[in-house]
Amino acid sequence: MAAKAIRFFELNTGAKIPSVGLGTWQADSGVVGNAVTTAIKVGYRHIDCAQAYGNEDEIGSALKKLFHDGVVKREDLWITSKLWCTDHAPEDVPKALDKTLHDLQLDYLDLYLIHWPVRMKKGSVGFKPENLIQSDIPSTWKAMEALYDSGKARAIGVSNFSSKKLGDLLEIARVPPAVDQVECHPSWQQPKLHAFCKSKGVHLSAYSPLGSPGTGSIKREVLKNQILITVAEKLGKTPAQVALRWGLQMGHSVLPKSTNEARIKENFDVFDWSIPEDLFAKFSEIEQERLIKGTAFVHETFGAYKTIEELWDGEL
Ligand code: A2P
Repeated sequence: MAAKAIRFFELNTGAKIPSVGLGTWQADSGVVGNAVTTAIKVGYRHIDCAQAYGNEDEIGSALKKLFHDGVVKREDLWITSKLWCTDHAPEDVPKALDKTLHDLQLDYLDLYLIHWPVRMKKGSVGFKPENLIQSDIPSTWKAMEALYDSGKARAIGVSNFSSKKLGDLLEIARVPPAVDQVECHPSWQQPKLHAFCKSKGVHLSAYSPLGSPGTGSIKREVLKNQILITVAEKLGKTPAQVALRWGLQMGHSVLPKSTNEARIKENFDVFDWSIPEDLFAKFSEIEQERLIKGTAFVHETFGAYKTIEELWDGEL
């Protein structure tokens, strides 16, 4: 039987989000533009950005050239960006989007996310604890809804929200979030959030779908998990491809970051094969650990969360 390609997922707005997007976190200036160009030439139609990544201007230049050269049209691309923690004040939200649109050289985003349920002092730089302040998600969300109304953000959502925080937001939202973008991969499968999102019609988008092997602070090597390796060997695929295909079959869009041409191609070769049910079932045996804990966002004195248990509402 032919594998289901799983190229898109439909959001609660009716829009179709391409299932594989290029991640750009830790994609350095000087190489990120080339990575975006390569990815789009390979067939990617989804780029995941954020103001905090510090590279949106270079991505914007690459996009401009791709449009100018007729490689792709704006309307055929899906561009996501994220509101940083320093811009949660309602009056700062539209300014932050305008800055991102300016840097990306676009007049709208397909999706704009609150990057973290964490607020920092306006204009502060870095992760000093004293920059953390109380958050007020309902007021920030109202400002996000206004961007949705304006058409500058064609869908709005959140990132790094636990089931509890997402549920609280759904209670008060006029425009429900379309997406919760969170860490998700075979070693952090998020079953509770997955089920909650499914029940509420919120799409789960997976960042660090390969376990971010290049991040020094992360010790667990997701791509070296023996179950993943065994499945990959049986299917004649790489562990990275199997991790991504697992995400697609779970119903998640996946956002692998790479600035390497061969790996950008490898990560997009996940559509014309699938993980059969018996091998898919093996993933439930993989030991679980959250790798991106957000410790910089918690402090016993400053901010909204004293512990990582509070940040994630116990989903650890
Ligand atoms: P590189 O950019 O040199 O390819 P994640 O998306 O989970 O955050 O993981 C990104 C990290 O994984 C980067 O360090 C990236 O390095 C590396 N990477 C990307 N694709 C692959 C792949 N197919 N196999 C192994 N490592 C990969």
